[in-house]
Amino acid sequence: MKLFDVYPLYNITPVKGMGSWLWDSNNQKYLDLYGGHAVISIGHSHPRYVEALSNQLSNIAFYSNSVQNPLQEKLAEKLGQIAGYPDYQLFLCNSGAEANENALKLASFVTGRKKVIAFKKAFHGRTSGAVAITDNPKIVSPFNSGHDIVFVPLNDEMAVTAALDATVAAVIIEGIQGVGGIQVPHDTFLQSLEKKCKVNGTLLILDEIQSGYGRTGKFFAHQHAGIKPSLITTAKGMGNGFPIGGVLIHPDIKPWSGMLGTTFGGNYLAASAALAVLEVIEKEKLMSNATLVGNHWLAALGKLSTIKEVRGRGLMIGIDLPDDKREVRSNLLFKHFIFTGEAKPNTIRLLPSLALTRDEADLFLTALNREL
Ligand SMILES: Cc1ncc(COP(=O)(O)O)c(C=O)c1O
Repeated sequence: MKLFDVYPLYNITPVKGMGSWLWDSNNQKYLDLYGGHAVISIGHSHPRYVEALSNQLSNIAFYSNSVQNPLQEKLAEKLGQIAGYPDYQLFLCNSGAEANENALKLASFVTGRKKVIAFKKAFHGRTSGAVAITDNPKIVSPFNSGHDIVFVPLNDEMAVTAALDATVAAVIIEGIQGVGGIQVPHDTFLQSLEKKCKVNGTLLILDEIQSGYGRTGKFFAHQHAGIKPSLITTAKGMGNGFPIGGVLIHPDIKPWSGMLGTTFGGNYLAASAALAVLEVIEKEKLMSNATLVGNHWLAALGKLSTIKEVRGRGLMIGIDLPDDKREVRSNLLFKHFIFTGEAKPNTIRLLPSLALTRDEADLFLTALNREL
Protein backbone atom coordinates (compact mmCIF):
# COMPACT_ATOMS: atom_id res chain seq x y z
CA MET A 1 0.00 0.00 0.00
CA LYS A 2 1.16 3.55 -0.76
CA LEU A 3 0.58 6.59 1.44
CA PHE A 4 -2.24 8.88 0.28
CA ASP A 5 -0.13 11.60 -1.30
CA VAL A 6 -1.47 14.85 0.18
CA TYR A 7 1.69 16.49 1.57
CA PRO A 8 4.43 18.24 -0.43
CA LEU A 9 7.49 16.81 1.36
CA TYR A 10 11.02 18.10 1.89
CA ASN A 11 13.65 15.47 1.29
CA ILE A 12 14.68 15.57 4.97
CA THR A 13 14.20 12.75 7.49
CA PRO A 14 14.50 13.91 11.10
CA VAL A 15 15.60 11.09 13.39
CA LYS A 16 16.43 12.92 16.61
CA GLY A 17 15.40 16.09 18.43
CA MET A 18 16.76 17.84 21.51
CA GLY A 19 15.64 21.26 22.75
CA SER A 20 15.45 23.58 19.72
CA TRP A 21 17.52 21.27 17.53
CA LEU A 22 16.85 18.44 15.08
CA TRP A 23 19.15 15.93 13.41
CA ASP A 24 18.37 14.17 10.13
CA SER A 25 19.28 10.67 8.93
CA ASN A 26 22.58 12.07 7.52
CA ASN A 27 23.40 13.51 10.96
CA GLN A 28 22.88 17.08 9.68
CA LYS A 29 21.85 19.38 12.54
CA TYR A 30 19.02 21.93 12.12
CA LEU A 31 17.79 24.84 14.26
CA ASP A 32 14.03 24.29 14.62
CA LEU A 33 12.12 27.59 14.53
CA TYR A 34 8.97 25.88 13.25
CA GLY A 35 8.34 23.39 16.07
CA GLY A 36 6.55 21.03 13.67
CA HIS A 37 3.90 23.75 13.23
CA ALA A 38 3.88 25.36 16.71
CA VAL A 39 3.61 21.98 18.43
CA ILE A 40 6.96 21.76 20.23
CA SER A 41 6.33 24.01 23.23
CA ILE A 42 8.93 22.94 25.82
CA GLY A 43 11.58 21.64 23.39
CA HIS A 44 12.20 18.28 21.72
CA SER A 45 12.65 15.30 24.07
CA HIS A 46 12.72 17.38 27.24
CA PRO A 47 14.03 15.03 30.00
CA ARG A 48 10.98 15.64 32.27
CA TYR A 49 8.62 14.90 29.35
CA VAL A 50 10.49 11.71 28.42
CA GLU A 51 10.47 10.59 32.07
CA ALA A 52 6.73 11.28 32.51
CA LEU A 53 5.73 9.42 29.34
CA SER A 54 8.10 6.49 29.96
CA ASN A 55 6.86 6.02 33.54
CA GLN A 56 3.25 6.19 32.44
CA LEU A 57 3.81 3.74 29.58
CA SER A 58 5.26 1.15 31.94
CA ASN A 59 2.23 1.47 34.27
CA ILE A 60 -0.87 1.78 32.09
CA ALA A 61 -1.16 3.34 28.62
CA PHE A 62 -4.89 3.25 27.97
CA TYR A 63 -8.30 2.56 29.34
CA SER A 64 -11.63 4.08 28.38
CA ASN A 65 -13.41 7.19 29.64
CA SER A 66 -15.84 4.96 31.56
CA VAL A 67 -13.52 4.63 34.58
CA GLN A 68 -11.85 7.07 36.98
CA ASN A 69 -8.75 8.75 35.59
CA PRO A 70 -7.26 11.05 38.24
CA LEU A 71 -4.62 12.27 35.77
CA GLN A 72 -7.37 14.13 33.87
CA GLU A 73 -8.48 15.87 37.06
CA LYS A 74 -4.88 16.77 37.91
CA LEU A 75 -4.47 18.19 34.42
CA ALA A 76 -7.69 20.23 34.62
CA GLU A 77 -6.62 21.61 38.02
CA LYS A 78 -3.11 22.54 36.84
CA LEU A 79 -4.29 24.03 33.52
CA GLY A 80 -6.96 26.09 35.28
CA GLN A 81 -4.35 27.44 37.69
CA ILE A 82 -1.59 28.26 35.15
CA ALA A 83 -3.98 29.62 32.50
CA GLY A 84 -5.88 31.79 34.99
CA TYR A 85 -9.19 29.95 34.43
CA PRO A 86 -9.60 27.99 37.69
CA ASP A 87 -13.43 28.11 37.55
CA TYR A 88 -13.73 26.81 33.93
CA GLN A 89 -14.37 23.13 33.01
CA LEU A 90 -12.16 21.07 30.70
CA PHE A 91 -13.23 18.67 27.95
CA LEU A 92 -10.31 16.65 26.58
CA CYS A 93 -9.99 15.44 22.98
CA ASN A 94 -7.17 14.63 20.55
CA SER A 95 -6.59 17.47 18.08
CA GLY A 96 -7.27 21.09 17.26
CA ALA A 97 -10.04 20.43 14.75
CA GLU A 98 -11.78 18.19 17.25
CA ALA A 99 -11.52 20.87 19.96
CA ASN A 100 -13.16 23.41 17.62
CA GLU A 101 -15.81 20.92 16.51
CA ASN A 102 -16.77 20.32 20.16
CA ALA A 103 -16.75 24.04 20.97
CA LEU A 104 -19.09 24.74 18.02
CA LYS A 105 -21.35 21.91 19.13
CA LEU A 106 -21.47 23.28 22.69
CA ALA A 107 -22.29 26.81 21.45
CA SER A 108 -25.10 25.37 19.35
CA PHE A 109 -26.45 23.21 22.20
CA VAL A 110 -26.40 26.16 24.62
CA THR A 111 -28.01 28.74 22.30
CA GLY A 112 -30.23 26.43 20.23
CA ARG A 113 -28.87 28.30 17.16
CA LYS A 114 -26.66 27.17 14.25
CA LYS A 115 -25.26 30.29 12.57
CA VAL A 116 -21.55 31.06 13.17
CA ILE A 117 -19.45 34.15 12.43
CA ALA A 118 -15.82 33.47 11.49
CA PHE A 119 -13.08 35.69 10.04
CA LYS A 120 -11.44 36.13 6.65
CA LYS A 121 -8.11 34.23 6.45
CA ALA A 122 -9.15 32.02 9.39
CA PHE A 123 -7.95 28.42 9.74
CA HIS A 124 -9.69 26.20 12.27
CA GLY A 125 -9.05 22.63 11.05
CA ARG A 126 -10.36 20.07 8.57
CA THR A 127 -13.30 18.24 10.20
CA SER A 128 -16.78 19.16 9.02
CA GLY A 129 -17.61 22.22 11.16
CA ALA A 130 -13.97 23.29 11.59
CA VAL A 131 -13.32 23.36 7.84
CA ALA A 132 -16.64 25.15 7.20
CA ILE A 133 -15.43 28.04 9.42
CA THR A 134 -12.03 28.00 7.66
CA ASP A 135 -11.69 30.66 4.97
CA ASN A 136 -10.29 28.41 2.23
CA PRO A 137 -12.90 27.10 -0.26
CA LYS A 138 -10.30 24.74 -1.80
CA ILE A 139 -10.41 22.43 1.24
CA VAL A 140 -14.19 22.59 1.83
CA SER A 141 -16.01 19.65 0.17
CA PRO A 142 -19.70 19.85 -0.79
CA PHE A 143 -20.41 17.66 2.28
CA ASN A 144 -18.87 20.31 4.59
CA SER A 145 -20.41 23.31 2.92
CA GLY A 146 -23.96 23.07 4.31
CA HIS A 147 -23.18 25.00 7.49
CA ASP A 148 -24.56 28.47 8.17
CA ILE A 149 -21.36 30.59 8.26
CA VAL A 150 -20.64 34.29 7.69
CA PHE A 151 -17.04 35.44 7.16
CA VAL A 152 -16.18 39.02 8.12
CA PRO A 153 -12.84 40.87 7.85
CA LEU A 154 -10.60 40.78 10.93
CA ASN A 155 -10.56 43.98 13.01
CA ASP A 156 -13.61 45.36 11.18
CA GLU A 157 -16.04 46.33 13.97
CA MET A 158 -18.68 47.66 11.54
CA ALA A 159 -18.77 44.35 9.64
CA VAL A 160 -19.23 42.45 12.92
CA THR A 161 -22.02 44.80 13.99
CA ALA A 162 -23.78 44.22 10.67
CA ALA A 163 -23.48 40.42 10.86
CA LEU A 164 -24.01 39.75 14.57
CA ASP A 165 -27.57 39.45 15.87
CA ALA A 166 -29.61 37.17 18.14
CA THR A 167 -29.62 34.37 15.53
CA VAL A 168 -25.86 33.76 15.86
CA ALA A 169 -24.73 30.82 18.01
CA ALA A 170 -21.02 31.68 18.11
CA VAL A 171 -18.30 34.00 16.94
CA ILE A 172 -15.00 32.11 16.56
CA ILE A 173 -11.66 33.88 16.29
CA GLU A 174 -7.99 32.85 16.57
CA GLY A 175 -6.00 34.49 19.38
CA ILE A 176 -3.59 35.40 16.56
CA GLN A 177 -4.28 34.05 13.06
CA GLY A 178 -1.53 31.55 12.27
CA VAL A 179 -2.09 29.99 8.85
CA GLY A 180 -3.45 33.39 7.71
CA GLY A 181 0.06 34.84 8.17
CA ILE A 182 0.27 35.99 11.84
CA GLN A 183 -2.59 38.50 11.75
CA VAL A 184 -3.14 40.01 15.20
CA PRO A 185 -6.65 41.03 16.30
CA HIS A 186 -6.56 44.44 17.99
CA ASP A 187 -7.15 44.35 21.75
CA THR A 188 -10.00 46.85 21.32
CA PHE A 189 -11.54 44.65 18.61
CA LEU A 190 -11.56 41.62 20.93
CA GLN A 191 -13.04 43.73 23.73
CA SER A 192 -15.84 44.96 21.48
CA LEU A 193 -16.46 41.38 20.22
CA GLU A 194 -16.86 40.20 23.80
CA LYS A 195 -19.42 42.97 24.48
CA LYS A 196 -21.37 42.40 21.24
CA CYS A 197 -21.55 38.65 21.90
CA LYS A 198 -22.93 39.24 25.41
CA VAL A 199 -25.63 41.61 24.12
CA ASN A 200 -26.82 39.03 21.55
CA GLY A 201 -26.57 35.91 23.74
CA THR A 202 -23.87 34.63 21.36
CA LEU A 203 -20.93 32.55 22.61
CA LEU A 204 -17.43 33.86 21.91
CA ILE A 205 -14.99 31.04 21.04
CA LEU A 206 -11.27 31.77 21.15
CA ASP A 207 -9.24 29.35 19.04
CA GLU A 208 -5.91 29.34 20.90
CA ILE A 209 -4.70 26.16 19.22
CA GLN A 210 -1.67 27.87 17.68
CA SER A 211 -1.44 31.12 19.70
CA GLY A 212 -1.96 29.57 23.16
CA TYR A 213 0.07 27.66 25.69
CA GLY A 214 2.38 30.54 26.57
CA ARG A 215 3.53 31.28 23.02
CA THR A 216 2.76 35.02 23.16
CA GLY A 217 4.08 35.53 26.70
CA LYS A 218 0.64 35.16 28.30
CA PHE A 219 -0.94 31.73 28.58
CA PHE A 220 -3.53 32.59 25.90
CA ALA A 221 -3.09 35.40 23.35
CA HIS A 222 -6.55 36.87 24.10
CA GLN A 223 -5.41 37.58 27.67
CA HIS A 224 -3.44 40.56 26.31
CA ALA A 225 -6.88 42.12 25.70
CA GLY A 226 -8.21 41.20 29.15
CA ILE A 227 -11.30 39.40 27.81
CA LYS A 228 -12.93 36.15 29.02
CA PRO A 229 -14.45 34.05 26.22
CA SER A 230 -17.19 31.47 26.78
CA LEU A 231 -15.10 28.74 25.16
CA ILE A 232 -11.35 28.42 24.53
CA THR A 233 -9.88 25.70 22.32
CA THR A 234 -6.36 24.36 22.66
CA ALA A 235 -4.14 21.62 21.15
CA LYS A 236 -0.65 21.78 19.49
CA GLY A 237 1.71 22.94 22.31
CA MET A 238 -0.47 21.22 24.91
CA GLY A 239 1.25 17.83 24.46
CA ASN A 240 4.62 18.93 22.97
CA GLY A 241 4.01 16.39 20.18
CA PHE A 242 1.75 13.90 21.96
CA PRO A 243 -1.72 14.35 20.38
CA ILE A 244 -4.09 16.08 22.80
CA GLY A 245 -6.63 18.88 22.53
CA GLY A 246 -9.08 20.51 24.88
CA VAL A 247 -11.98 22.90 25.30
CA LEU A 248 -12.05 25.23 28.31
CA ILE A 249 -15.71 25.80 29.10
CA HIS A 250 -17.30 28.71 31.01
CA PRO A 251 -18.77 27.66 34.39
CA ASP A 252 -22.28 28.78 33.30
CA ILE A 253 -22.35 26.01 30.66
CA LYS A 254 -23.74 22.91 32.35
CA PRO A 255 -22.88 19.44 31.04
CA TRP A 256 -25.32 16.54 30.71
CA SER A 257 -24.35 12.92 30.47
CA GLY A 258 -23.41 12.05 26.89
CA MET A 259 -23.39 15.68 25.67
CA LEU A 260 -19.83 15.19 24.34
CA GLY A 261 -17.64 12.12 24.21
CA THR A 262 -14.47 10.52 22.84
CA THR A 263 -12.59 7.21 23.01
CA PHE A 264 -9.02 8.49 23.17
CA GLY A 265 -9.45 12.02 24.58
CA GLY A 266 -7.55 12.53 27.86
CA ASN A 267 -5.98 9.07 27.84
CA TYR A 268 -3.23 8.27 30.34
CA LEU A 269 -0.32 8.99 28.02
CA ALA A 270 -1.81 12.23 26.66
CA ALA A 271 -2.65 13.49 30.15
CA SER A 272 0.86 12.63 31.42
CA ALA A 273 2.44 14.45 28.48
CA ALA A 274 0.22 17.51 29.05
CA LEU A 275 0.98 17.56 32.78
CA ALA A 276 4.74 17.41 32.12
CA VAL A 277 4.39 20.30 29.64
CA LEU A 278 2.64 22.51 32.21
CA GLU A 279 5.18 21.57 34.89
CA VAL A 280 8.08 22.58 32.63
CA ILE A 281 6.38 25.80 31.40
CA GLU A 282 5.98 26.84 35.04
CA LYS A 283 9.32 25.64 36.42
CA GLU A 284 11.46 27.02 33.58
CA LYS A 285 9.42 30.26 33.30
CA LEU A 286 8.91 29.67 29.60
CA MET A 287 6.23 32.33 29.21
CA SER A 288 8.66 35.06 30.36
CA ASN A 289 11.26 33.55 28.06
CA ALA A 290 8.81 33.78 25.13
CA THR A 291 8.30 37.48 25.90
CA LEU A 292 12.03 38.22 26.27
CA VAL A 293 13.29 36.34 23.21
CA GLY A 294 10.25 37.42 21.16
CA ASN A 295 10.81 41.11 22.00
CA HIS A 296 14.48 40.74 21.09
CA TRP A 297 13.49 39.31 17.69
CA LEU A 298 10.79 41.93 17.07
CA ALA A 299 13.19 44.79 17.88
CA ALA A 300 15.95 43.42 15.62
CA LEU A 301 13.61 42.50 12.75
CA GLY A 302 11.96 45.92 12.91
CA LYS A 303 15.34 47.47 11.94
CA LEU A 304 15.74 45.42 8.74
CA SER A 305 14.64 47.74 5.96
CA THR A 306 14.36 44.95 3.36
CA ILE A 307 11.47 43.42 5.33
CA LYS A 308 8.01 44.69 4.32
CA GLU A 309 6.35 44.10 7.70
CA VAL A 310 6.87 42.21 10.96
CA ARG A 311 3.87 41.14 13.06
CA GLY A 312 3.26 39.07 16.16
CA ARG A 313 3.72 38.69 19.87
CA GLY A 314 6.25 36.68 21.85
CA LEU A 315 7.40 33.63 19.89
CA MET A 316 4.67 33.84 17.22
CA ILE A 317 6.11 36.12 14.56
CA GLY A 318 5.37 36.71 10.88
CA ILE A 319 7.88 38.38 8.55
CA ASP A 320 6.56 39.63 5.20
CA LEU A 321 9.31 39.55 2.57
CA PRO A 322 9.26 41.39 -0.76
CA ASP A 323 8.22 39.40 -3.85
CA ASP A 324 11.80 39.25 -5.18
CA LYS A 325 12.93 37.43 -2.01
CA ARG A 326 11.02 34.20 -2.59
CA GLU A 327 14.07 31.96 -2.14
CA VAL A 328 14.91 33.16 1.41
CA ARG A 329 12.97 30.48 3.30
CA SER A 330 14.38 27.59 1.31
CA ASN A 331 17.90 29.07 1.59
CA LEU A 332 17.46 29.30 5.35
CA LEU A 333 16.65 25.59 5.36
CA PHE A 334 19.16 24.23 2.84
CA LYS A 335 22.09 26.67 3.28
CA HIS A 336 21.78 27.63 6.95
CA PHE A 337 19.91 24.53 8.18
CA ILE A 338 17.15 26.52 9.89
CA PHE A 339 13.51 25.30 9.80
CA THR A 340 10.88 28.07 9.60
CA GLY A 341 7.18 28.09 8.75
CA GLU A 342 5.50 29.95 5.89
CA ALA A 343 2.29 31.72 4.94
CA LYS A 344 1.13 32.97 1.56
CA PRO A 345 2.19 34.97 -0.37
CA ASN A 346 5.74 35.39 1.03
CA THR A 347 5.69 35.34 4.84
CA ILE A 348 8.13 33.55 7.12
CA ARG A 349 6.46 32.25 10.28
CA LEU A 350 8.53 31.78 13.43
CA LEU A 351 6.97 29.29 15.88
CA PRO A 352 9.88 27.86 17.88
CA SER A 353 9.93 26.10 21.23
CA LEU A 354 9.24 28.50 24.10
CA ALA A 355 12.64 27.51 25.50
CA LEU A 356 14.52 29.09 22.56
CA THR A 357 17.57 30.97 23.87
CA ARG A 358 18.66 34.44 22.78
CA ASP A 359 21.82 32.96 21.23
CA GLU A 360 19.70 30.57 19.17
CA ALA A 361 17.47 33.49 18.15
CA ASP A 362 20.60 35.40 17.03
CA LEU A 363 21.65 32.54 14.73
CA PHE A 364 18.46 33.19 12.77
CA LEU A 365 19.07 36.98 12.64
CA THR A 366 22.59 36.42 11.26
CA ALA A 367 21.37 33.96 8.61
CA LEU A 368 18.42 36.18 7.59
CA ASN A 369 20.70 39.23 7.33
CA ARG A 370 22.97 37.31 4.98
CA GLU A 371 20.06 36.19 2.81
CA LEU A 372 18.62 39.69 2.57
C1 LIG B 1 -5.61 28.05 14.75
C2 LIG B 1 -5.76 26.59 14.42
N1 LIG B 1 -6.91 25.97 14.70
C3 LIG B 1 -7.07 24.66 14.44
C4 LIG B 1 -6.08 23.91 13.84
C5 LIG B 1 -6.30 22.46 13.55
O1 LIG B 1 -5.57 21.67 14.43
P1 LIG B 1 -5.33 20.12 14.09
O2 LIG B 1 -4.46 20.06 12.90
O3 LIG B 1 -4.69 19.58 15.35
O4 LIG B 1 -6.67 19.51 13.86
C6 LIG B 1 -4.86 24.53 13.51
C7 LIG B 1 -3.79 23.78 12.83
O5 LIG B 1 -2.89 24.30 12.22
C8 LIG B 1 -4.70 25.91 13.80
O6 LIG B 1 -3.57 26.56 13.48
